[in-house]
Amino acid sequence: MTVTEQVLIELEENKGKPISGEKLAEKLGCSRNAVWKAVKNLEDEGYEVEGIKNKGYILKASADGLSSAYIEAKLKKAGVKLTLETYKSIDSTNSLLKRYAAEGKTGDMVAVSEEQTAGRGRRGRSFFSPKGSGLYMSFLLHPDVPMAEAVSLTTVAAVAEAKAIEKVTGFETGIKWVNDIWMRGKKVSGILTEAQSSVESGTLDYCVVGIGINLYEPQGGFPEDIKDVAGAVYTENSGRGNLKNDLAAALIEEFMNFYKKFPNRTYLEDYRKRCFCIGKDVTVVTADHNALETDPTAPDRIHAHVLGVDENCHLHVRYRDGAESFLSSGEISIRL
Ligand code: BTN
Repeated sequence: MTVTEQVLIELEENKGKPISGEKLAEKLGCSRNAVWKAVKNLEDEGYEVEGIKNKGYILKASADGLSSAYIEAKLKKAGVKLTLETYKSIDSTNSLLKRYAAEGKTGDMVAVSEEQTAGRGRRGRSFFSPKGSGLYMSFLLHPDVPMAEAVSLTTVAAVAEAKAIEKVTGFETGIKWVNDIWMRGKKVSGILTEAQSSVESGTLDYCVVGIGINLYEPQGGFPEDIKDVAGAVYTENSGRGNLKNDLAAALIEEFMNFYKKFPNRTYLEDYRKRCFCIGKDVTVVTADHNALETDPTAPDRIHAHVLGVDENCHLHVRYRDGAESFLSSGEISIRL
């Protein structure tokens, strides 16, 4: 870790309180001049550091850029062991980790970026991933489970993300079945899980779980095609601080805590608590959002009441004709 990164961590941990150059130098085992240079570097990166005479340095505002050292320090404190890479910009964190997997990388890791130039969403769609206003991250994992189980990692990610946003911001979140995070009636995040299995055994070779979060409304607003649905964690740009790093660290920690026990469904209660479809009347639609064809043998299979979510995250619904079924995310979606 560089002196600059270490100074940043000390300043973040003492936010609001001045810490003297002498104390910093002593703690980090470097010269006061090295501390001074580190502070200058941080200012160049956009951090606002005030030097108060006879008291020391005080961090006034964070630059809200990603810092590997900061996230790593938080993960270390929480006892989470995982290889981390951070990027200012990348084509897609999912694509990057799939390339790593194809090259034969076997360790579990997480890649986090401030921007994606070719962000990918579900069903071959692109995912709007502008610089500055979002957080884009993917996990590369090698769980020893059958292919069919990989889809549950999407649910793990949704629950981990919801908990992390709540912890870091204090705001409430909801999960729209299957795995989109919603706040104030808008989608603030989506998850794309991609996996490869070996043909002979049907077991998983690797799994990449990608999470994209809109932290702020982008400058100029969301693009036309998503503006009615898309929202952001913060409605105004009030949240800045060190949000990207704090949220990334909290999300990785929450995710890895569930993943340690995977495939045990320790995340299910947290999922059900936040799944706001339960108890509501919904419209069942095909994955491409057309109303589902009415089944001629069971009239009115479009409107349903949601009774709950089962162990496999299937939606337990009752139709108007009284028939019940368990809907899987692969084929259908719902409208509230
Ligand atoms: C969706 O809602 O359609 C899923 C969006 C998933 C986006 C994330 S951002 C990080 C990772 N990299 C990608 O290219 N996609 C996922």
